[in-house]
Amino acid sequence: MGEKLFEDIENFFTFLDECLNVNLLIAEDRIEKTNDQKKEDEDRNKKSKRKGLFDEILDMHMGLGDPYIMIKEEKGKLLEDVEQRIISCKLCELHKERKRAVPGDGSPTARVVFVGEAPGFEEDKKGKPFVGKSGNLLMSKIKEILSLDRSEVYITNVVRCRPPQNRTPERSEIEKCSPYLFEELEIISPQLVVALGAPAAKVLLMKDEKITELRGNFYRRSDYTVFVTFHPAYVLRNPNVMELFNEDFKKIAEFLRST
Ligand code: URA
Repeated sequence: MGEKLFEDIENFFTFLDECLNVNLLIAEDRIEKTNDQKKEDEDRNKKSKRKGLFDEILDMHMGLGDPYIMIKEEKGKLLEDVEQRIISCKLCELHKERKRAVPGDGSPTARVVFVGEAPGFEEDKKGKPFVGKSGNLLMSKIKEILSLDRSEVYITNVVRCRPPQNRTPERSEIEKCSPYLFEELEIISPQLVVALGAPAAKVLLMKDEKITELRGNFYRRSDYTVFVTFHPAYVLRNPNVMELFNEDFKKIAEFLRST
């Protein structure tokens, strides 16, 4: 009986021991799990913090947009407004005989703007500047010497409706039409404005000197630099000045490279 009691007590303590061990194991396991969880939580927090910051920056950029694209779009809209006014302009008698008025054409953010005299036959038909023979010569120099595409420059005129028989525009026509040119220049804000021929040089420089005296030179103005060269139509009629015309374009290329 006494032996049985001792045996029972021993079993009881063994049982207690086992219970204690199991509990200890469970407790240890809990502690480990808690540590793992903590680490997991920390990692998750860090990640979510990083993601939050990244998202913030991304949101900021999406909201603001690419400044270059925005400027181009804004300038484009402003130029469209000038274009609409040119298309419906009736300020001088030239509108009566035009087929189409000819607004400027090209990049709203062009670094260089070319200014001709007035639309000719082809331009009057198509409503786009320099798309006839003179235009072909001008474009070939822009491509070959400046390595630029038509879409990278801006091409415009002093007068926007074709004068009868391509006569030189009159002073009053130039006075009424040239504000459109200055609006375009203000919007585009180019570095260089190339005057093609005497009427453009006169308007841009407010000088009445001969083209032979003005050509080949840069004239610094408050907002941009003006360079004077021959009108392409004059070069086509006088091929002996083609070399000078090429030299002028090389000067333009050098100016654009160095600024
Ligand atoms: N000559 C110009 O002066 N402008 C044109 O657009 C075309 C020919």
